[in-house]
Amino acid sequence: ITIRPATIEDIQGMQNANLHNLPENYQLKYYMYHLLSWPQASFVATTTGSDYDDTINDEKVQAVKYDTSYVNKHEKIVGYVLGKMDDDNDNKDDEPPHGHITSVSVMRTYRKMGLAEKLMRQALYTFAEVYSAQYVSLHVRKSNRAALHLYRDTLQFEVLSIEKSYYQDGEDAYSMKLVLDLDQ
Ligand code: ACO
Repeated sequence: ITIRPATIEDIQGMQNANLHNLPENYQLKYYMYHLLSWPQASFVATTTGSDYDDTINDEKVQAVKYDTSYVNKHEKIVGYVLGKMDDDNDNKDDEPPHGHITSVSVMRTYRKMGLAEKLMRQALYTFAEVYSAQYVSLHVRKSNRAALHLYRDTLQFEVLSIEKSYYQDGEDAYSMKLVLDLDQ
């Protein structure tokens, strides 16, 4: 599995992963807007055919080893992070430049392998290095234990506030923030 910056050619695959993994979905032009405006703030985790189906048994793994038409043929997007600078909901004049994580997700069979953490760390690094972001913000559902663990425990985001009925179905969101410290 490879983690690399997302390109315009990836937007269909990112949208596909997003549709599979989250109820918050976006039109392709919104992905395009992210990638054209902040080309280094979004990343994808990809795999080639050889390890895409993780249910294949050893016998099949042996077989595909020699089948070069199957190995390295099509890159599949198994995870992504979609990032942007300066959240529109929050652009007060006195706010320092900051990044926002619009969406992150990993396909079900590729979870708990550290991919979301890697995708997030790449985005956090370039937010600071490339876009001079001083902090990064995001929203997450109160019930989303996996994502909360990733943000709060693994990446050390702090909860800023609870936004009541933030989501369309009425669920509350935690508004979270991580101050970027390049020396860490
Ligand atoms: N329950 C508890 N902890 C979990 C879970 C879980 N289900 N899944 C992962 N974690 C923990 C891991 O153990 C790890 O903790 P550690 O640092 O203490 O070892 C940490 O979270 C990071 O794990 P990763 O393997 O990097 O996470 P993964 O690649 O599995 O992806 C994600 C996590 C993105 C939340 C995934 O479960 C997913 O795609 N969920 C559906 C989509 C989603 O909820 N996206 C986030 C929405 S919020 C937003 O987009 C801003």
